[in-house]
Amino acid sequence: MAKMWEGVTSGQTDCLADDFNSSIHFDKRLFTQDIKGSMAHAAMLASKGIISEEDCKLITDGLAGILADLKSGALDFDLSCEDIHMFVEQVLTERIGDAGKKLHTARSRNDQVAMDMRLYLRDETDGISALIKELIKALCEQAEQHTETIMPGYTHLQRAQPINFAHHLLAYVQMLKRDLGRLEDCRARMNVSPIGSCALAGTTYDTDRAMEAELLGFSGVCANSMDGVSDRDFCLELMSALSIMMMHLSRLSEELILWSSWEFRFVKLSDAFTTGSSIMPQKKNPDMAELIRGKTGRVYGDLAALLTTLKGLPLAYNKDMQEDKETVFDAVDTAKMCLKVMAPMIETMTALPQNMLKASREGFINATDLADYLVKKGMPFRTAYKISGQIVALCEEKGKVLEDLSLAEYKGFSELFGKDLFAEIDIRNCMEKRTSEGGASSAAAKKQLEELKKEFVI
Ligand code: ARG
Repeated sequence: MAKMWEGVTSGQTDCLADDFNSSIHFDKRLFTQDIKGSMAHAAMLASKGIISEEDCKLITDGLAGILADLKSGALDFDLSCEDIHMFVEQVLTERIGDAGKKLHTARSRNDQVAMDMRLYLRDETDGISALIKELIKALCEQAEQHTETIMPGYTHLQRAQPINFAHHLLAYVQMLKRDLGRLEDCRARMNVSPIGSCALAGTTYDTDRAMEAELLGFSGVCANSMDGVSDRDFCLELMSALSIMMMHLSRLSEELILWSSWEFRFVKLSDAFTTGSSIMPQKKNPDMAELIRGKTGRVYGDLAALLTTLKGLPLAYNKDMQEDKETVFDAVDTAKMCLKVMAPMIETMTALPQNMLKASREGFINATDLADYLVKKGMPFRTAYKISGQIVALCEEKGKVLEDLSLAEYKGFSELFGKDLFAEIDIRNCMEKRTSEGGASSAAAKKQLEELKKEFVI
């Protein structure tokens, strides 16, 4: 087929080169943005008298028809076209004749593709934010049922101090809130219009960039035409925000995997989100959580790939930049999938408070409170810490927990111990005493939850 750019060259390229060069099989997903962008471009050209109103109407109606036909499936993508931009222009010209050939006045595919990508990713960013909010809702709803559910809090994966399950889940909500903030920041910087940068140097036509930007919902225009066509920071920023978000999902996945193991048995994942083994009849595998953890590496890889692609490029456009698409599309698709699976997996998970409580009783997680008790009675913290350590060692030797020792045994370590000790080292009380803002008491968790419910209208 004759190439649109046939002129100075014969337009005859090797078919292998054509296949290698072509991006339509992955940029066809930009068709809506490409067509809407072209409609705005035609409107701007007509308003400045660069094309006639009649041509503008022909172009706009033609584009609307193509959009409808692509959506309904009446029109198929022609994969022999180089990219989505060439395809739309070709179909338009076939359908409306010469007017179609006027659409590409005062623009280039370089600013067109940058615009399409910004429009596309702007919508995807909004979609991802909505999915994050769904996950926040699922976490808050689980948390709501478990503000009093005691579990061991860990450091170094060693039982450390008592917390409640809600407090643990809400830590993830705080991470996701920051993810939302990063996406919002990234969206704001993404939302400026490169159109009008043309190939690299702007145009000699008297265009109205601000009008075109406004028609497309951009908040302004890129200030430098060379930057306009060569900037892909918005792809990188989005992928880096998504990488951090995936890291959060991966940590949560890791906890779900641990918690649902026989070693912990803190939660039961719904059958709908686990799989069986082909050989071991007893198995319930947390495949979905493992896949989310696994796919996190893939999103990091997408970010690293594009950073590497861009790092040596001279200004302005280079064909290397076509490689932005598969990486950023993959990162977006993967992140969306993972969020879509994580929310119902959290929603349908069942906590097992009895097992959490049992684990809380077994790990000496009230040892800090034992030391604090002595401090409150006047002993220096380091001495109290040492004595408490010796008491823990004695318990270990006897196969007991701190609550099991008698007052007489305690008094053997220090005369400061009195009857009131037992309330101080009661596990629930140890959790409830941590009333500091953002602390582990159920009162603090409830307060945190109330604020989140207000913020996210749950
Ligand atoms: N398919 C190309 C891309 O994705 C569109 C821009 C082509 N521009 C050019 N000068 N060849 O980057």
